[in-house]
Amino acid sequence: MTKIERDVVIIGAGASGLTAASDLVAAGLTVAVLEARDRVGGRLWTDDVDGAMLEIGGQWVSPDQTALKDTLAQLGLATYPRYREGKSIYVNKAGAVTRFEGEIFPVPAATELAIVTLIEKLDVLVAEMDPDRPWEHPRAAELDAVSFSAWLEAETDDQEARDNIGMFIAGAMLTKPAHAFSTLQALHMAASAGSFSNLVDADFILDERVVGGLQQVPLLLAERLGADVHLGQPVRSIRSNDEGVVAVTDDLEVHARFVIVAVPPVLISRISFDPPLPRRQHQLHQHLSMGFVIKVHAVYETPFWRADGLSGTAFSPYELVHEAYDNTNFEDPRGTLVGFVSDENADGVFALTAQERKTRILESLSHYYGEQAMNPVVYYESDWGTEEWTRGAYAASFDLGGLARYGADLRTPVGPISFACSDMAGKGFQHVDGAIRVGQETAAVIVAQTAPLT
Ligand code: FDA
Repeated sequence: MTKIERDVVIIGAGASGLTAASDLVAAGLTVAVLEARDRVGGRLWTDDVDGAMLEIGGQWVSPDQTALKDTLAQLGLATYPRYREGKSIYVNKAGAVTRFEGEIFPVPAATELAIVTLIEKLDVLVAEMDPDRPWEHPRAAELDAVSFSAWLEAETDDQEARDNIGMFIAGAMLTKPAHAFSTLQALHMAASAGSFSNLVDADFILDERVVGGLQQVPLLLAERLGADVHLGQPVRSIRSNDEGVVAVTDDLEVHARFVIVAVPPVLISRISFDPPLPRRQHQLHQHLSMGFVIKVHAVYETPFWRADGLSGTAFSPYELVHEAYDNTNFEDPRGTLVGFVSDENADGVFALTAQERKTRILESLSHYYGEQAMNPVVYYESDWGTEEWTRGAYAASFDLGGLARYGADLRTPVGPISFACSDMAGKGFQHVDGAIRVGQETAAVIVAQTAPLT
């Protein structure tokens, strides 16, 4: 067992932990980052699969994500816009395929009115919410007791309007069925991106990508930290007393004044704390769960849909792949489509063989783009559900009633123990931007506490 002494030990080398570590070092403190995996980045992972560069985890950057944008600029990383020339595609419940422009799907006039009305109502509720304090919304407890699907049912009889608005939060964001999370949690998801209108605007929310991949953010941050990042070191226990903390892996023991636990909140319970975390933390961690989505990558010899006048953007709450986009890499002659299979649909296809699953998913893509979609040269499914150190995608959110009841305590430090993760963010919740914000804020609190002592 090697013993290391530092000012702060950080558990987890994702965007949040590495941002915190970098800020602490910039403030003159010493750090050790302990990462369970043999790579940094956590849910950011850019890899080569059969000769194609794929963003297995997070990838998109939107205009409101100013913390991420600042980090990209500091690291000298360039961005490029998602391809969006041409028409989008919508498939209705009957399977009819329609090409359209703009944000509102081609639906009957009454359904369009219902969709616009729902968006306006949701925008008003979201505007009343501070994304950093959703539990302070004037109707927080009431809205947290109603599932998003029940709220939608109470608002409109129009099934297609409900299915579409539900999809934006359920399948597309929290990646849980709309009956499994509250209206307050849905509003928080939208508030974290500025408004509900922003969430339904694909050109806003899926605006840009990073040339060479978003994992470069953690890779470059880790490079600067050098030997202070320790890979393959799952932290098994954290001991704390008045003197400070000791984080213990199978090989290392890091003694420090502070610890930042920068792991998804669903994994905090995997670490043994001595003394145990307080009752409140024990309880609240049980009310969070990971969503689940399969990110499907299909690479073709050319972006054939572009020649057909299509942007590659496709939606349908009735398709196995509920949304798909042109995800072609920067200056790549090949064309890449990315599609998403969420929550119960993901459960369903994982009950099939790999070949059956691939066929079902490609068939769904072919409903949007035609038969050519059936024959990619590279095909890959990002399955974060099997990743021991993540256990789902995209992120964790509260169950019904959990946000109003426990949200305020999610990031409350316990003595020298602080918590940081995108899944605990206000602005940028469940996104890299939120991971960076929370990392920065957590580091700043520790720096402020150490300032008089240094
Ligand atoms: P993250 O989970 O990345 O890091 C935690 C780290 O802790 C991991 O490296 C893990 O191995 C480690 N760890 C866990 N337990 C440990 C232990 N006991 N000891 C040591 N280490 C431990 N966001 C976005 O902005 N745009 C996007 O397009 C997308 N798309 C997207 C797609 C997919 C498929 C996924 C899975 C996610 C996204 N996201 C996204 C979300 C984004 O990737 C995510 O919010 C952040 O990367 C999370 O960063 P964190 O550092 O908070 O956690």
